[in-house]
Amino acid sequence: MDFKGKSFLKLLDFSKAEIECLIDLASELKYKKKSGVPHRLCEGKNIALIFEKTSTRTRCSFEVAGYDLGMGVTYLDPQGSQIGKKESIADTARVLGRMYDGIEYRGFGQEIVEELSKYAGVPVWNGLTNEFHPTQILADFLTIKEHFGKLEGINFVYMGDARYNMGNSYMVGCAKMGLNFTVCAPEKYFPDKALIEECQAIAKQNGGTITFETDPMIATKNAQVIATDVWVSMGEPDSIWEERIKDLMPYQVNKKIMDNAGEKAVFMHCLPSFHDLNTTLGKQIGEKFGITEMEVTNEVFESSQSIVFQEAENRMHTIKAVMAATLV
Ligand code: CP
Ligand code: NVA
Repeated sequence: MDFKGKSFLKLLDFSKAEIECLIDLASELKYKKKSGVPHRLCEGKNIALIFEKTSTRTRCSFEVAGYDLGMGVTYLDPQGSQIGKKESIADTARVLGRMYDGIEYRGFGQEIVEELSKYAGVPVWNGLTNEFHPTQILADFLTIKEHFGKLEGINFVYMGDARYNMGNSYMVGCAKMGLNFTVCAPEKYFPDKALIEECQAIAKQNGGTITFETDPMIATKNAQVIATDVWVSMGEPDSIWEERIKDLMPYQVNKKIMDNAGEKAVFMHCLPSFHDLNTTLGKQIGEKFGITEMEVTNEVFESSQSIVFQEAENRMHTIKAVMAATLV
């Protein structure tokens, strides 16, 4: 399979076989890392990481994966470059494309990362946009495969705001890989109609299903994976917290939901997560609205059914696979 020179912007651009190949490569690179086998496949290359939004996992994954592959890495923080303010995306792409072998972008609209890729002349990797978070899905699918031994036929339920990057990307990923995907949310939080139709057609080809359910007890019956995300995403205004808490509290992943799914079900979350008051924002929101946890209870987050840290580790192995596949 030939990925060389290709950008990784959204899962819709890749076939089932290609996604499978990236997950398998990640698994191989994970094994090599754990067994101390060097894998400096991109020795001498350099990459630039553009972050217009903050990050812990994605930035560290690109950096560590870059070093493990033998590359030099430059991090551009949300304030530290000319991007957007004094220099257009097209100009930035043409400058960085002459200095670097690959560029990661995290920021706002999907059209920005698409434009960057159009002009850069080197692979561009999407580290999260408002619409999609494709490297997160590779990590989640590697984790599901490690846990259940397969992806096809897995009953995957996503609870919460399904119109943003995580909901959209899970829907595309599940459709591509033949999982049974259920969105569990109030109707106004269902993904965009056109994307749903596109994914339904893809799911049909790959033996999966896409279902929409407003009742959490119906949605999570027989679920094998229950995933959620923060109720207010980066770039959204603080003023919407009140509405989101009111709308989405019935869709919180708690013990009742996990018990309904059964003891073999696992809990997943891309992180960071509001499961306690041990963060500045968690404290602020907690005090303002009189709550101690949001999209997931601390009990579920800390339970043996939670595989969130294995999922977080897999960000690095899967991002490494994407870079290695597209650079060499
Ligand atoms: N899951 C994820 O993308 O985390 P960061 O925002 O820390 O990169
Ligand atoms: N939906 C979240 C995902 C964070 C990894 C956000 O965009 O903030």
